[in-house]
Amino acid sequence: MSVSLAKNLTDKSLADEGFLDQLAWNEKMAELGQLAVGMVHELNTPLSVIVSAIQLILREEELSPSVKEMVERIEMEAQRLSLFTKGVLSFARKEDAPVGETDVNQVLQEVICFLKYEAQKRPISVVEDLDFRLPPIVADANRMKQIFINLIMNAFQAMDGGGSLLLRSSLIDDGLISVQIADTGSGIPKHMLNSIFEPFYTTKKTGTGTGLGLFITKKLVETFSGTISVETSEGEGTCFTLTFPVI
Ligand SMILES: Nc1ncnc2c1ncn2[C@@H]1O[C@H](COP(=O)(O)OP(=O)(O)OP(=O)(O)O)[C@@H](O)[C@H]1O
Ligand SMILES: [Mg+2]
Repeated sequence: MSVSLAKNLTDKSLADEGFLDQLAWNEKMAELGQLAVGMVHELNTPLSVIVSAIQLILREEELSPSVKEMVERIEMEAQRLSLFTKGVLSFARKEDAPVGETDVNQVLQEVICFLKYEAQKRPISVVEDLDFRLPPIVADANRMKQIFINLIMNAFQAMDGGGSLLLRSSLIDDGLISVQIADTGSGIPKHMLNSIFEPFYTTKKTGTGTGLGLFITKKLVETFSGTISVETSEGEGTCFTLTFPVI
């Protein structure tokens, strides 16, 4: 056997080995994914019960203001978890999104109202620059909510000492709308930009971030034929831009 042929064969078997390793790894990740989806599914049902029970408690008239405030806080966090589990499940199930017509401005306003406590506690001022002539887009409002919650929570978490959040919607041209979510937070270092949309990539302390937020967000945006991009400057802030085709 010639030296070059032998080398070729060795290179090939090494390449095959690498390929097999990759396959085994992919299989492992798929199993892990199924396990994770199973766990999220198990969490989803009790969470829905918790949210309904909290809503019943909130209907009680004799709650003292401090108890009411605490229960509202619990409701908000439980809602957030419940939306997260629904987001993971709808992504995993590959349900036939998109469904229905969605008013993006309305969804943005609902999300900001839902997260107002998170803004107040830092404190963060929220500036809305919404174009109300925006036509509806083909999307599922709940998944759209999930997209905005993930991006806005990231922005809030990047501004723990306070700051300002800008929400802007606009009609780019006849066929496309854009939504921008811009913060005055920490910014994202350049070397991290390639990783932020990867699953489980997080810079947050254990227990505070799973690193799935942007991964799921990007997948959901793509199910509505949209795009997501990011501009950032360390120490100055970050702006995520989404575009969606109009109906
Ligand atoms: N607006 C932002 N400003 C600064 N860094 C950001 C911003 N958005 C995302 N990042 C960075 O990207 C990483 C990945 O974000 P992602 O939302 O996927 O995960 P996470 O926020 O860490 O956890 P999770 O969303 O699952 O709770 C974050 O840990 C953070 O380092
Ligand atoms: Mg996040």
